Amino acid sequence: MSHPIRQVVLIMLSLCYGAVMAAINYTAPSLGFNQTFQQSWALYSPYFPVSEYAPPPTGCTITQVNLLQRHGARYPTASVGVSLQQSVAKLQGADLSDDPSLTFLMNFTYALGTDILVPYGAAQSFDAGQVHYTRYASLIDGDILPFVRASSSERVVESALNWTAGFAYASNQLYVPVLSVIISESGNDTLDNNMCPNAGSSDSETSEWLEIFAPDIADRLNMAAPGANLTNSDVLNLMYMCPFETVANEAPSAFCGLFSQGEFNSFEYYEDLKDYYGNGYGQQLGPVQGVGYVNELLARLTGQPVQDETQTNHTLDSSPVTFPLNRTFYADFTHDNEMISIYSAIGLFLQPHALDPSQPNTERTWVDYKLVPFSGRMVTEKLECTVAGETGDYVRILVNDAVQPMEFCGDTGSGVCALGDFVQSQQYARLNGEGDWALCSD
Ligand SMILES: *[C@@H]1O[C@H](CO)[C@@H](O)[C@H](O)[C@H]1NC(C)=O
Ligand SMILES: *[C@@H]1O[C@H](CO)[C@@H](O)[C@H](O)[C@H]1NC(C)=O
Ligand SMILES: *[C@@H]1O[C@H](CO)[C@@H](O)[C@H](O)[C@H]1NC(C)=O
Ligand SMILES: *[C@@H]1O[C@H](CO)[C@@H](O)[C@H](O)[C@H]1NC(C)=O
Ligand SMILES: *[C@@H]1O[C@H](CO)[C@@H](O)[C@H](O)[C@H]1NC(C)=O
Ligand SMILES: *[C@@H]1O[C@H](CO)[C@@H](O)[C@H](O)[C@H]1NC(C)=O
Ligand SMILES: *[C@@H]1O[C@H](CO)[C@@H](O)[C@H](O)[C@H]1NC(C)=O
Ligand SMILES: *[C@@H]1O[C@H](CO)[C@@H](O)[C@H](O)[C@H]1NC(C)=O
Repeated sequence: MSHPIRQVVLIMLSLCYGAVMAAINYTAPSLGFNQTFQQSWALYSPYFPVSEYAPPPTGCTITQVNLLQRHGARYPTASVGVSLQQSVAKLQGADLSDDPSLTFLMNFTYALGTDILVPYGAAQSFDAGQVHYTRYASLIDGDILPFVRASSSERVVESALNWTAGFAYASNQLYVPVLSVIISESGNDTLDNNMCPNAGSSDSETSEWLEIFAPDIADRLNMAAPGANLTNSDVLNLMYMCPFETVANEAPSAFCGLFSQGEFNSFEYYEDLKDYYGNGYGQQLGPVQGVGYVNELLARLTGQPVQDETQTNHTLDSSPVTFPLNRTFYADFTHDNEMISIYSAIGLFLQPHALDPSQPNTERTWVDYKLVPFSGRMVTEKLECTVAGETGDYVRILVNDAVQPMEFCGDTGSGVCALGDFVQSQQYARLNGEGDWALCSD
């Protein structure tokens, strides 16, 4: 027979244990490299704030937040994983005895998973939830929690759940948002870019640049590892191993040591081209794939029903249960390609000159690590501002905490536009892509 007091203690212990488990402050650790190096990993860079968050201008208060966030760090996709293993195997089949930076390959076993978040990616999403609760706590009370949606990929759903866990943690479990809508990626989905089969690819631009920067690296490695016979694509694959292993193991990958900072800067540009010509301004059917989300954003900002004839699911968006308009905080979880399309539909990161596949323009603002790092985020804040005695609605957009210039709606340097002017500026979305959507499928 167990002693009653002992039983009580056991129950208390298990309650405490439960509470402690739920309350772990799981913060993404340092990965062991300097920022400059990690930023040259392009869309595989871990999130970092591009600027320090600046509160809205004097006279303005935030009345609504719209968060759009990429999932956290992940393993390679299944198809990429196969290519990575093939390139690693080629190098492992060569004579590696001459070069100390290569000897690790003698005992190396490829051990990366596929598709899903790595623990670091879960931690990044949890961190983001903490940051967003802390920053926007004034918009939250017991009746008005964030409304959360996710595209249906497992890594996106988990990122949303980890974000809600971080948000709840930061509020000391006072506010526990739930994931309310998971949008199927096999149907109409504004948080994924699977609905435009006729969109072209960036292959010709990325190949052009690869053929410029990779041959010297291939020659160097083939010299160091006689018999490897590495191609330009092998070089690229071996470079991918660096970020993927580092985020998976939360420790520097030995593959990083095979390449210089300058070589990774070329790699970064390769990915900039891929996004610019794959989903951005360089792709005729890139921006239109962001229109559905923009129309949802306009609906939330104006409190009016969604009007869209592109990627929205009308069943979901016409119901107050799955698309409410009376919240103060909306959080959506998505993929990098979709975010690129959305930036381009809105008019963000517009370049004065198209990206040159033969040479990086060092003045460009289209730099992947600032646009779509792992766990990257765009936040549209609706503001109420009193200007010269008149109160009205305004908006500003932050990408990875940097306030975006919005000349297209009359921003003259504060980063803020009148809501009406912003809505007016979004003609391309409001007109369903001005004919582009019809070109997406035959
Ligand atoms: C590889 O493993 C073998 C056996 O465990 C060991 O003797 C050898 O030193 C290792 N080589 C390297 C380069 O780590
Ligand atoms: C929002 O509207 C829904 C349904 O119309 C209602 O059930 C809910 O209480 C409202 N929430 C707030 C915060 O006003
Ligand atoms: C992240 O979410 C997954 C799935 O819900 C969960 O198993 C994991 O414990 C979460 N991690 C954190 C850090 O919240
Ligand atoms: C969790 O840890 C991070 C990093 O140490 C810190 O910035 C944050 O304030 C902590 N969160 C809470 C709720 O204590
Ligand atoms: C729209 O969403 C509903 C509810 O989730 C789902 O049953 C339906 O299949 C979706 N339709 C399309 C075309 O995506
Ligand atoms: C090296 O690769 C090229 C192209 O893949 C191939 O044509 C050639 O036969 C290979 N050479 C050796 C020595 O394996
Ligand atoms: C950052 O780290 C990389 C890789 O270790 C190294 O090549 C580079 O020189 C470092 N840069 C700075 C500014 O420390
Ligand atoms: C899904 O999108 C297509 C293309 O815009 C549209 O014709 C269809 O009505 C949509 N279906 C739903 C359920 O919203």
